[in-house]
Amino acid sequence: MTIIDGNLISNQIKEEIKESVTKLVNEGKKRPHLAAVLVGMDGASQTYVGHKVKSCEQVGFESTLVTLDENTTEETLISKIHELNNNDAIDGFIVQLPLPKHIDADKILLEIKASKDVDGFHPINFGRMCLNLPAYIPATPMGIMTLIERYKIETKGKHCVVIGRSNIVGRPMSILMSRAGIDSTVTLCHSRTSNLQEECRRADIIIAALGKPNFVTKDMVKPGAVIIDVGITRVEDSSKKSGYRIAGDVDFENVKDLCSYITPVPGGVGPMTVVSLMLNTLQASQNLIYTK
Ligand code: GUN
Repeated sequence: MTIIDGNLISNQIKEEIKESVTKLVNEGKKRPHLAAVLVGMDGASQTYVGHKVKSCEQVGFESTLVTLDENTTEETLISKIHELNNNDAIDGFIVQLPLPKHIDADKILLEIKASKDVDGFHPINFGRMCLNLPAYIPATPMGIMTLIERYKIETKGKHCVVIGRSNIVGRPMSILMSRAGIDSTVTLCHSRTSNLQEECRRADIIIAALGKPNFVTKDMVKPGAVIIDVGITRVEDSSKKSGYRIAGDVDFENVKDLCSYITPVPGGVGPMTVVSLMLNTLQASQNLIYTK
């Protein structure tokens, strides 16, 4: 069994990005510049955005953090987005999700210019991804594909079960795994799937992205399967200084000896998400997906 080291791979990629930035700067070009918009005080979102800003620093990008009050109106948020769309200094930006309940996230995401949508959440990018056209790929699925590639995990003709149909992870993951060149046969499972346990037991690759700690248990895993755990749920833990720990969707301790590869939580998929956002921003700065 191999434990997939997301920290190791993400650090390698950060070094590669840093080298690309140095090259750009030496050629007299500007540093890539990512902006992040954070609305409200959600603790997890603050942490994630903090990681994104810190990663920008590490790879030599400029970053701008726009923080807006919890009570910000849709109108104000949209005008901020239009400002970022029109600001030539910013190569790409993200609006951190979830947004406060009074804001319609679908409506907001439509306002982001597709060429700056480094999260790949705009329907133009999502549609282009589905059609195999150049597109920004959502960061978490992109990070998982990179892990699969760098660990040389066989995907051709394999049966991949994705658990969870979110727009951010499960659904794009199911599309990427079935692409030509990857060639897995994909089953996308969700809360209404009738025989989830059986579906999982048939899987060569399980991608768990439902957000329920320890959901995937030993009895759901075929010996030799590859397990990718996307869960990052905060669970109360009084032994921790913060009062919580981060739990994955997989019962790691009991599953690990059964499988061929497994991602730990933390230190598996998580670090790859941030680095994939950096890669998308680098592409944006070089107009590699959309020409200006
Ligand atoms: N919330 C959880 N994951 C993400 C992500 O990848 N991007 C944004 N913008 N918000 C998120």
